[in-house]
Amino acid sequence: MTGGKPSDEERVTDLTLRPRSLNEFVGQERLKTVLGMTIEAARRRADVLDHVLLSGPPGLGKTTLAHIIARELGVNLRLTSGPAIERAGDLAAIVNDLEHGDVLFIDEIHRLSRAVEEVLYPAMEDFELNIVVGKGPSARSMRLAIKPFTMVGATTRSGLLSSPLRDRFGQAFHLEFYAPEQLASIVIRSARLLKAEIDEAGAKEIAARSRGTPRIANRLLRRVRDFAQVENKPSITLDVAVRGLELLGIDSCGFDRMDRAILEAIVDKFGGGPVGVESLAAAIGEERETIEEVYEPYLLQEGFIARTSRGRVANPRAYSHLGRSKQGVLL
Ligand SMILES: Nc1ncnc2c1ncn2[C@@H]1O[C@H](COP(=O)(O)OP(=O)(O)OP(=O)(O)O)[C@@H](O)[C@H]1O
Ligand SMILES: [Mg+2]
Repeated sequence: MTGGKPSDEERVTDLTLRPRSLNEFVGQERLKTVLGMTIEAARRRADVLDHVLLSGPPGLGKTTLAHIIARELGVNLRLTSGPAIERAGDLAAIVNDLEHGDVLFIDEIHRLSRAVEEVLYPAMEDFELNIVVGKGPSARSMRLAIKPFTMVGATTRSGLLSSPLRDRFGQAFHLEFYAPEQLASIVIRSARLLKAEIDEAGAKEIAARSRGTPRIANRLLRRVRDFAQVENKPSITLDVAVRGLELLGIDSCGFDRMDRAILEAIVDKFGGGPVGVESLAAAIGEERETIEEVYEPYLLQEGFIARTSRGRVANPRAYSHLGRSKQGVLL
């Protein structure tokens, strides 16, 4: 289990559990209000929706929203990702194929190459492709009109986006971690779709340990359902949820082995910090990007760690969670 990143099994169940309309989409109230309004306005004017940028940690619903946007607009959705578009020509072929008003979803948009970005700018701004034909001195630049479309870009690292690219999105939203009550309602909804019995206390327990992330909530629900099944329990009660989650190594804060390894490394190996992310990555044998994209955002938001100019430091909450006093003595 790697934080918020999807496994193969999840890619399949994601499809069943995915909300299909903004109404079904839980939480992110401001985003839903604004996006709902711009979608409605575009529809009434029979206009093309302004480009949308979605940023935020993995598993919070960016891909889900891209599907919802296309569905609510009643247009086709074309899905691709930054790393999948290797050459400028690949992108030109994709946008040239779009129908009027279609949604083009580019996941991990911060990983587009510069050459591809160059093609994207006029495509997004003027619905035009600038293509170079021929080679050497006879090479000529040609302009080709494309049909107006809506670009939905998703990124876990909005800080890595070049500013000309960011500026070309008419609307940008940052997805926030979900509150426990929102996650509990997602768990109850998913349980219904999976035909699993769950009571409110069971759902709240799973929600509390889901690191603010719907994908993790759905993942824990499936694992606890398996546990209930082998234990012959007809329903996921608080007791079943707690025992199932303990068995999975998910602690009371929802941390798994890697979250704890990060906290322990900062506290025990680096005396509470500050420690640079590279040293931290080396100490726990995880990639820097994974720490930054998947693990840190929640630990930062919940105040277990803090980011300073000299590196990461452990906050009192980390010490008390690990059962250590500030001197590193076991309490
Ligand atoms: N607001 C929500 N309400 C209900 N379910 C949600 C919500 N957001 C996400 N989910 C569930 O969480 C799963 C993961 O969401 P999604 O794949 O959209 O995340 P993502 O932000 O695209 O993640 P990544 O950055 O890893 O691509 C979805 O299958 C969906 O079932
Ligand atoms: Mg996604």
